[in-house]
Amino acid sequence: MGSTHRTASRKLGVAKKLTKISRRATLPGALLVNDLPLLRHIPEWLPWFSYKPLARRGHDLGQELINEPIKFVKTGMLNGTAQPSLALEQLQELEKLSGTEREEAEKVMVGAIGTLYTAGVDTRVQDELDAVTGRERLPTFDDRPKLPFVEAVCKEILRWRPVAPLAVPHATTKDDVYEGFFIPKGALVIGNTWAILHDPEIYSEPDVFKPERYLNLDGSVRDDPTLTVAFGYGRRICPGRHLVDATLFIVVASLLSVFNVKKRQDAGGAGGSSEYTYTGAHVSRPNPFPCTIVPRDKRAEELIISDTMATGS
Ligand code: HEM
Repeated sequence: MGSTHRTASRKLGVAKKLTKISRRATLPGALLVNDLPLLRHIPEWLPWFSYKPLARRGHDLGQELINEPIKFVKTGMLNGTAQPSLALEQLQELEKLSGTEREEAEKVMVGAIGTLYTAGVDTRVQDELDAVTGRERLPTFDDRPKLPFVEAVCKEILRWRPVAPLAVPHATTKDDVYEGFFIPKGALVIGNTWAILHDPEIYSEPDVFKPERYLNLDGSVRDDPTLTVAFGYGRRICPGRHLVDATLFIVVASLLSVFNVKKRQDAGGAGGSSEYTYTGAHVSRPNPFPCTIVPRDKRAEELIISDTMATGS
């Protein structure tokens, strides 16, 4: 039990370091080499090209993350403490092979199991929440400055699938010219909020739900003046936006601190956003979709119960 726990928390440490590096390496504009791949041929001792040590460190951590679970099970097999698992089953199968066939099969197996393991690790929101609450309580508004990733998730929710994709029609109060087009006084003008919030020049891979786009390299939240279009335009801009801002934060933070929200196993499909449909373009919300919302674990259940008792709801 002790060594399993030690291995798990070491893994989490490695995964966190790796997530930090990949955040630094994949943020749009963070590394010039992402935009100009030719730069990879430039020797690393030249100033401004220090991404290579970062890339190497990322690679090494990735290898560690993939290899360690297998090493752990192999040690367990040797001293008879290995618990039933997919890795154990696969390693036992490998024993039936030999030579290069075995080497090849082991490589594939290590990669596949490692991927399964790492895919489940990116519980970044929950890591951030746990570090702040210590899992002793639910998050509060006072925690907000310490939860930049939650903040980024909220911004991305507003951007990714805007509630009002075409806002509300407006009219010009005087004649105007926009990019060479004459717009007479009184003309109906519809702001295409969807197009603005999915402009690839402002938001790379606009259809991907990517909260990291709202984080600076140091992990702080990036301001995005364009995002206000989610609430409309001009003097009739939504007065409820401040309430939305607060509500969205507390709902996301509270829900994710105690629940795992997942696609339902029997839902079918590849899990891409295309299989989810939305109501019309005026007010757009998701049509019913299959998902599971379950307490993260026993500790989460206790927190939910104690909070429900405290609020009497
Ligand atoms: C995610 C939630 C919300 C979104 C995305 C949203 C978005 C919008 C948009 C796009 C408009 C039209 C602005 C324009 O004319 O260009 C609007 C108007 C308005 N919203 Fe919201 N809204 C939200 C929630 C709320 C809430 C919670 C309230 C009230 C508590 C509210 C109250 C209003 C009112 C009163 C107007 C009309 C303002 C006017 O015409 O002067 N909204 N909202």
